[in-house]
Amino acid sequence: MSLPNQAPARYAVVGNPISHSRSPLIHAEFAAQTGERIEYGTLLAPLDGLGACVAGFLADGGAGLNVTLPFKEQAFEWARARGGVITARAIAAGAVNTLRFDTGEVLGDNTDGAGLVRDLQQRHGVVLQGSRVLLLGAGGAARGAAQALLACGVAALLIANRSPGRARALVDELADQRSSAIEWPDIGSQSAQLVLQATSAAFTGGVLEVPAAIFAGQPFCYDMTYAPRSTAFLEQARQAGCHRGADGLGMLVEQAAESFMFWRGIRPQTEPVYRSLRAQLDAA
Ligand code: ATR
Repeated sequence: MSLPNQAPARYAVVGNPISHSRSPLIHAEFAAQTGERIEYGTLLAPLDGLGACVAGFLADGGAGLNVTLPFKEQAFEWARARGGVITARAIAAGAVNTLRFDTGEVLGDNTDGAGLVRDLQQRHGVVLQGSRVLLLGAGGAARGAAQALLACGVAALLIANRSPGRARALVDELADQRSSAIEWPDIGSQSAQLVLQATSAAFTGGVLEVPAAIFAGQPFCYDMTYAPRSTAFLEQARQAGCHRGADGLGMLVEQAAESFMFWRGIRPQTEPVYRSLRAQLDAA
């Protein structure tokens, strides 16, 4: 626990856009719960100006940052260029979502994969070990998820992407016999226990078109995005008669808890924060 007469350690989440971020609320609740004296704000970085923004925060005595869209890959490169120490899971993801400065060196981590796995296994009771997973998408979010799922012992990871070349590139990069690229038109003929929605369709205003057949075997459907009440993907699953699923709100809280742990060495309880966020979101 922090000493009462110390100035609060300063943290922020950097992104563009950033005003929608729930991270300040989540970390304020973690701080209240654990007694850690921290301040946590938001930083809007220009799209071409992440490095200067992060360097300015560091020079001002900031203790650490979360990094969100669209900067996670750039933050990885920035930390590397600064001679930072980057965790194995951030190297595997090729992206950094957590930076720590108060040890005298730059530390970079990625807590997204751990947050995803924790939410799936602990909150939703999904068994990953030995399971077949269909991953929709092959961008940055999908890459982080793929690494974490393979590390958890899934038996097969089928990756499908609208642009098939990107799915093949991700499979090559993963270099793991359990992963394979599936052509988008073929996804309906795959059986899987878990279907993971990792595209950015919801952010870009696009529509994710998937055949109802992917829901036929009653897989657990997980949408890495979240929205009030339900997401378009979970709604498609429900209309196809598949009611097992969850959105990514729990992942958001779990990755934040992992970041808090990385900074403060203490693991906050996530369930009360998850419940209050869920209630707020559903009331919106
Ligand atoms: P992120 O870091 O959020 O993953 P990204 O790296 O830009 O963002 O990747 C976006 C992913 O969402 C890609 O897999 C993209 O598919 P393409 O590679 O074919 O562009 C996928 N995506 C975005 N909109 C989509 C849509 N409407 N239907 C299907 N896939 C979509």
